[in-house]
Amino acid sequence: MTRRKKPEEFRSFRWFGVKDLRAFGHRSRLYQMGYDHAELANKPVIAIINTWSDINPCHAHLRARAEEVKRGVWQAGGFPIELPAMSLAETYVKPTTMLYRNFLAMEVEELIRSHPVDGVVLLAGCDKTTPGTIMGAIQVDLPTIFVPAGPMLRGNYRGRMLGSGSDVWKYWAEKEAGRVTENEWSEMERGIARSFGTCMTMGTASTMTALADTLGLSLPGASAIPAADAGHARMAALSGARIVEMVFEDLKPSDILTAKAFENALAVHMAMAGSTNAMIHLIAIARRCGVPLTLDDFDRVSAEVPVLCNIRPTGEFLMEDFYYAGGLIALWKQLKPLLHTGERNVIGTIGGALDEAEVHLPEVIRPLDRPVAARGGTAILKGNLAPQGCVMKPAAADPALLQHRGPALVFDDYDAMMKAVNDDDLDVTADTVMILRNAGPVGGPGMPEWGMLPIPRKLLKEGVRDMVRISDARMSGTSYGACILHVAPEAYVGGPLAAVRNGDIIALDVARRTITLEVDQAEIERRLAEWRPPERDYSRGYLKMHAEHIQQAPEGCDFTFLQSPHKLPEPEIH
Ligand code: FES
Ligand code: MG
Repeated sequence: MTRRKKPEEFRSFRWFGVKDLRAFGHRSRLYQMGYDHAELANKPVIAIINTWSDINPCHAHLRARAEEVKRGVWQAGGFPIELPAMSLAETYVKPTTMLYRNFLAMEVEELIRSHPVDGVVLLAGCDKTTPGTIMGAIQVDLPTIFVPAGPMLRGNYRGRMLGSGSDVWKYWAEKEAGRVTENEWSEMERGIARSFGTCMTMGTASTMTALADTLGLSLPGASAIPAADAGHARMAALSGARIVEMVFEDLKPSDILTAKAFENALAVHMAMAGSTNAMIHLIAIARRCGVPLTLDDFDRVSAEVPVLCNIRPTGEFLMEDFYYAGGLIALWKQLKPLLHTGERNVIGTIGGALDEAEVHLPEVIRPLDRPVAARGGTAILKGNLAPQGCVMKPAAADPALLQHRGPALVFDDYDAMMKAVNDDDLDVTADTVMILRNAGPVGGPGMPEWGMLPIPRKLLKEGVRDMVRISDARMSGTSYGACILHVAPEAYVGGPLAAVRNGDIIALDVARRTITLEVDQAEIERRLAEWRPPERDYSRGYLKMHAEHIQQAPEGCDFTFLQSPHKLPEPEIH
């Protein structure tokens, strides 16, 4: 049996347990808040890091969930304290929440380090909050449980299923083509998001929470529970109870986040046809654990693991169906031969969770011998246009475009592109390769989700629904199409994307994993020597720090000074 920690070994004991002048202050201020000695004495203090806010619809229930976590903590003999952290509502934060992921990670790290805390519960789920809170917490390395916000209910429009993001783009294209009326559009607006919770397609939120779950940071399978299901509240309370035990057992993220745990996460990412954004986040998390994950690892696993989840935007169903189909543990069961089942999670092992796992809806979670797509959901392309790589989701693209040659149509900024795509005289055909640049980590800043460039209206009317689009931006995990993203190095820092001119031929061969700008290398270099990035004001504050330290996408877009497993010393308590 593992040795149980004694109360005087708790980190919080340094604040509350010692007999000195400072501890007098720490205790008397608890009494000031109405607590008495027995409520706290000898109990682990559990921080509940809550990313709730009034303007985050994906986290609207996290206020209630924090109370449910507290209930579990109290029942198990701990003392909960809720610590609010920035909410990063994907829909509202501009120019993009990605600009602030590392800010959240720093906030979480310092919140935990500076407070009298023995264990941590993270309440998050909207895109950047999962990686942000996890990156912060693993750096302090106290026992930690991740409580995923859970997906919202399916969207509904006149009895038809609507999926977050994916169906917005789909019906917008139909509206632009004149096939959806204003009235119908406004009815969809009211039907697409029917409850609190995260996007219920396989976007970045559902991908990241599933990866956190697979890494072992949640109660197994927690990530699939819909936010509005009563089981979600029960999961929160159970997580609160479990974290208290984890403090006694001293079970830390560093015990759980091994290289093999990341291999499992890669396999699940491929089987889910997970979001391209998640690749950036998983690399960032891994590198903070000292695991040198690269884009090549994604490509290697992509060749081994087929897509099993039949969920939009790649497939047909939604996360609610995934839960009824058996959820994440059922997916693990299908993937069993490809997983390291001995890997630890917060309560046992992945293998241990499989005893109860069963697939109830085999159309939603397919078996290995009847996949949705034979190869994994994402592909890494390299070539003279992207020497450090770029990514795409072949399974979510028109297969006819996976091998393609066409002339470039280049946009240097988003506004110019938006104007052009609405111009009925735009010189564009279905073969054109549309490019948006200066939208990378530095140039964006923060790689906004602009990478699913809109199909020009003229082509929409002709019936075109997909074309090759290339950018140094990201795209929403709920998006689809032949979109090539995260081109690195980005144009703003002088990557070859900056050299492309209108009419240059670009060749794409997904099977061979290549992307080529068919222009002489000498000519590319001559153009790059002349290149001047557009004006940006990064002269002060967070934007200055961001511009000076942000890494490119293949490195995880972490700050250079954060990407290390090094753990800072405990604060002095005087
Ligand atoms: Fe929050 Fe999609 S907007 S998860
Ligand atoms: Mg998203």
